[in-house]
Formats: sequence, structure tokens, C-alpha cells
Amino acid sequence: MLASIEKRIHHLTTMLDDQAVVVLPGASHIYRNMDVDFPFRQFSDFAYLTEWHYPDAWWILRKKGDQAEAVLCCQDADPVTERWEGRRLTPEAIVDLGHAETVIYQSELINTLSQWLQDTNTLYYPFERQVTIDVLLKSVLDHSKRRPSKPHIYKDLSQILGRMRLIKSDEEIALMQHACQISSQAHVALMAQTASKDYEYQLSSIFRDTCYQLGAEHLAYESIVASGENASILHYRTCRDPIDTKGLILVDAGCEWQGYASDITRTFPASGKFSPQQRDIYTVVLNTQQAIIDAIKPGLAFNELHQIAIKAMSDGVSDLGLLSSTPYGLNDLFFHGVSHWLGRDVHDPCPYVNDEKVSMILKPGMVLTVEPGLYLSNELKALDPLYHSISVRIEDDVVVTDAGCDVLSQDCPKTIDAIEDIMSI
Ligand code: GLY
Ligand code: MN
Ligand code: MN
Repeated sequence: MLASIEKRIHHLTTMLDDQAVVVLPGASHIYRNMDVDFPFRQFSDFAYLTEWHYPDAWWILRKKGDQAEAVLCCQDADPVTERWEGRRLTPEAIVDLGHAETVIYQSELINTLSQWLQDTNTLYYPFERQVTIDVLLKSVLDHSKRRPSKPHIYKDLSQILGRMRLIKSDEEIALMQHACQISSQAHVALMAQTASKDYEYQLSSIFRDTCYQLGAEHLAYESIVASGENASILHYRTCRDPIDTKGLILVDAGCEWQGYASDITRTFPASGKFSPQQRDIYTVVLNTQQAIIDAIKPGLAFNELHQIAIKAMSDGVSDLGLLSSTPYGLNDLFFHGVSHWLGRDVHDPCPYVNDEKVSMILKPGMVLTVEPGLYLSNELKALDPLYHSISVRIEDDVVVTDAGCDVLSQDCPKTIDAIEDIMSI
């Protein structure tokens, strides 16, 4: 079995009650329209425990005393479907590839589970998949010749895996660093080609194509390419407007590398040269980001990052006199969290507070984004109009180290000079 999976399963087992069974469904294809699916992506928790990236699989584990038995259930052989959709590996081949020690066909799942559940106290499953699990358990009950003594404790597997996924191993950090390196090159390619493009989606396409050409199989999320006033919309989706040639362009985009995400935002002028007002705002955001990065180290509470951002941004905005004689406060310009966990998912589902509901304390191996932003929408009518539609976010990915943090996305240029240089080529 792959060493990374073996370690994770061992760790998970230590966190389970005795006499427990774990049931974890894998992802299915999502239907788009007649005979067409959306691209398949495995559920992250499932990939974490199996590295198996095919649809309609299950993973189950039984713990008894010190012994744990984990089984991957793959799709049944089906020669007709396989001629249309692709060959399926046999259980033996999946074992040989190291995805699990034991692999069975999905058609054997109900029978196996109905035996396992005879003497199980605790059932762990992801609560967000409640409906899928209910259907499975009903089949198990229907199948059982005698009524199984049902587990009497039900616990959320996602909470446990979320805690495990919070600290990344060296191997995981290396994968995320590679994702960041590819995304950085794609951001540079996009900036360098902006002058010859007319629409937001053309820039989005340069980003995606560069990532794919460099070997990434997926993006970590749909790219946000927002020009001019659109940049004040945090998760701007449509990406179909013409580029505002006098405005800024905000690009929030990252690829996924072997199942691990990167999440990088750069903001730059469509013209290739920052105006004085664009420089002002960009500089405040860049300085704020640096203040946060400088502060990150083991022992700092996650929620302190936001306080550092507020202090640095308030100072910068007040030095500019931007809000004097307006009715606005900083929270009209900056209204989102300044960081989130990053891992297999762009918003990695790891806890932000501990069991006492106190903010998580940073530890080596945690990976997080640093993404302050100022959004000067033209709807803020009382602002000096020269600052209207100047919206800037700068986002990097960092890993907490013993002494502070390393910026995984450091190859992605972000100083005003570096950006203007790239765009002048
Ligand atoms: N890319 C989404 C975010 O930064 O949260
Ligand atoms: Mn982010
Ligand atoms: Mn982002």
C-alpha cells in the first residue's frame, strides 16, 4: 500500500472508538445533460485515504481492539459500459497499485457491511453525505436475514478527517509548492499577454492552458478574472465582460497538482502602468499582506491575522486621507476574511477553532492563504471619483514553519515594478 495512505489510515484508526466501522462514499459522475457529465473529481476525503480517482467507489474500515481492516470497493466489471466509458481495473490491479490492501467489487459491499455491522458500536460517516448513507444502510438492513444490532453511536467522520488534514506532511507541502509554481507561471503568462486580449474569458483561457501545458490536470477552482468595476465583486463568476483598458484586472486563479490546490490572486493595470491612485491602493494592500506574512509563526492565533490586517489597512487608508469627509469606514472597503486553510480543497475543510471554541493556534505544517483586499466600488459615491473602481486583492499561500512561514507562491511577482516589467515585454 502507498506509504502516505498507510500512515493516514493508521492515524485515523487511533482516533476511532473501539468496535467501530467507518463508511465513506466516493464521488459519482455529475450529470450535465444528455449523455454528458461534468468533469469527474474525487471527494477530497476519499482521495486522502485511497488516492483512488475513479467514480462510484466506497471505502470502509472496521476497528476491533488494535486491529483495523480497511477495504476499498471499486465498480463492478461491466464490459458493455467499459467499451463506452473506459476500462475498469480489477481489484487485484488496484491492490498492486497500492490504493488499498484489500479491494472488493461494489456488489460485495452490502454483504460485507451487513456482517461488520452485527457487532459495531460506533458508525463513522461524513454527515454531509447523510442521504447516500441512509440509502446504503437501508440496503444493508433489507439484505440482513436477521435484524442486525444497529450501531448506537453515530459520529461525523468529516470532523476527524478535517483535524487530520490541518497539518500537512512534507510530501503534501511539496505538492502544494509545485501547484503554486505552475500557477505562478500561468499568472505571469496571463499578464504578459493581456495587451493583446479583449475579454476577461480570454485571460482565463491563458491561465488554464498554461497550467494544463505545464502538467496540471485540473484547476483548483473556476478562475476569477474581473476587470474594472467587476473586481469589487469578491467571487465574480461570469468572466465574460470586455476588458476595461483603463482599469485594474483582478485574477484569482490556481491550479491543482496531484490533488492539491494553489490559490493565488494578482491585480494589475490593463494598460501595463499603474495610475497614481491605483498605486496608492495597491501599496496599502501589499504592505498589509507583508505585515501579515511577517507575523505568521507557530503560537499565533488564526484570528489574530485579521486584526493585523485591519490595523495595517486602517493606517494605510488613513495616511491617504481616503475616507475623510465620507460617511464610510474601513469595513465598506474590506469585508472578507483575510485567510483560510488550503490543502486538497481551496477552502480546506479544517477547523478554525479548537474543542473549546477558541481560535486555532498556528503550528508548523499548516498551510493557509494571506489575502487582504480593498474594494473601492463606484457605488461608494462619496469617495473621490479618481479612486472609483480601484479594487485590489493580493493573495499568496504560506506554510507555517518552526521559525515563521515560507511563501509557497513566492515565484509569482507582485511588486509594482515587477508587474510593470512583465507587462512591458
Ligand atoms: N479563490 C477563492 C478564495 O480566495 O477564497
Ligand atoms: Mn483564497
Ligand atoms: Mn483566491
